[in-house]
Amino acid sequence: MTVARQIVLAARPKGRPQSTDFHLEETPIPTPASGQLLLGVRYLSLDPYMRGRMDDRKSYATPLQLGDVMTGEAVAQVLTSNHPAYAEGDIVLAQTGWRTHALSDDTRLRKLDPAVAPVTTGLGVLGMPGFTAYGGLRVIGKPQPGETVVVAAASGPVGSLVGQLAKLAGARAVGIAGGLEKCTFAKDELRFDAAVDHRAADFPAQLATACPAGIDVYFENVGGAIWQAVLPLLNKYARVPVCGLIAQYNGPGQGDRTDRLLATMREILSKSLTLRGFINSEFAEQHHAEFLREVGAGIANGRIRYREDIVDGLDKAPEAFIGMLEGRNFGKLIIRVGT
Ligand SMILES: NC(=O)c1ccc[n+]([C@@H]2O[C@H](COP(=O)([O-])OP(=O)(O)OC[C@H]3O[C@@H](n4cnc5c(N)ncnc54)[C@H](OP(=O)(O)O)[C@@H]3O)[C@@H](O)[C@H]2O)c1
Repeated sequence: MTVARQIVLAARPKGRPQSTDFHLEETPIPTPASGQLLLGVRYLSLDPYMRGRMDDRKSYATPLQLGDVMTGEAVAQVLTSNHPAYAEGDIVLAQTGWRTHALSDDTRLRKLDPAVAPVTTGLGVLGMPGFTAYGGLRVIGKPQPGETVVVAAASGPVGSLVGQLAKLAGARAVGIAGGLEKCTFAKDELRFDAAVDHRAADFPAQLATACPAGIDVYFENVGGAIWQAVLPLLNKYARVPVCGLIAQYNGPGQGDRTDRLLATMREILSKSLTLRGFINSEFAEQHHAEFLREVGAGIANGRIRYREDIVDGLDKAPEAFIGMLEGRNFGKLIIRVGT
């Protein structure tokens, strides 16, 4: 490859992103200065939070400006090293953005050992999404033996680990997913106790049947209609780690416009509920090392399973990302960039 390629934010989406909101550019391959590395991106992670960065809105992270390279984490190979701690060929996790090549000065890099686990797991089950599941469940959800834990987006990297960790803690795991194939995967492959299709016309009734003893922990990944079906089923003292609201990232959906805050507050009070939002990084200092140890061991001995959805080509990233916001991915969404 003689030129680098990158994808920038071309326009701010109005609701659902369009392919014209992204622009693929070619640039010269950069030259690393003393102390720097030139990285060649192998695998790029696509994550729901990136939708928020496209809006010009105050949030926990600074929004992208028009023309900025889309934010993203990647598995990359060191192509040139002017840094004593890295050799050419090393594989690292790096915040490169949506591009084929990136310079790095060693801040926020993590070396990956392909002998320990496939390197793509550093973007999913052993990476940020996996840690999100681990931290949210461990610090806020605290599932107890015999309790019922419910999670939506159950076949994705966060949801699939939430359910499996709940099972390992002795709880009953109920997944919510879009369509029969994902529900079957959650039950047969991930060994959830039950899985319910949120696209079914009688979804709230099916969820109630799948949770005969109510819900003790609801790990919130989605919001919207799924949250409305969960709320009446929450037990006294239920815990709700509020992790993500993907159903709302493109704006309010159909039927989401009614203000239900009063009824929600009544439920919070009368059932002594605990709802707590979180961003995974707040748990890193205390829990990241034990996460890598425990989940790494679970993957090595086969007790923890995961699925990846790998799409070829940086140019396919916008379409794949738009699809993820509609549930078209099946497992951790990764772009194979291949420089
Ligand atoms: N707080 C944090 O630090 C943190 C960190 C990472 C991720 N998150 C959040 O965790 C959630 C899951 O992330 P992930 O990386 O594991 O994503 P993911 O499951 O790979 O992908 C998103 C999934 O969400 C579901 N979905 C999308 N739109 C939906 C809608 N309108 N209604 C219902 N379901 C919808 C789809 O699954 P189905 O087809 O099964 O519905 C889709 O496959 C997201 O909300 C994300 O923002 C939070």
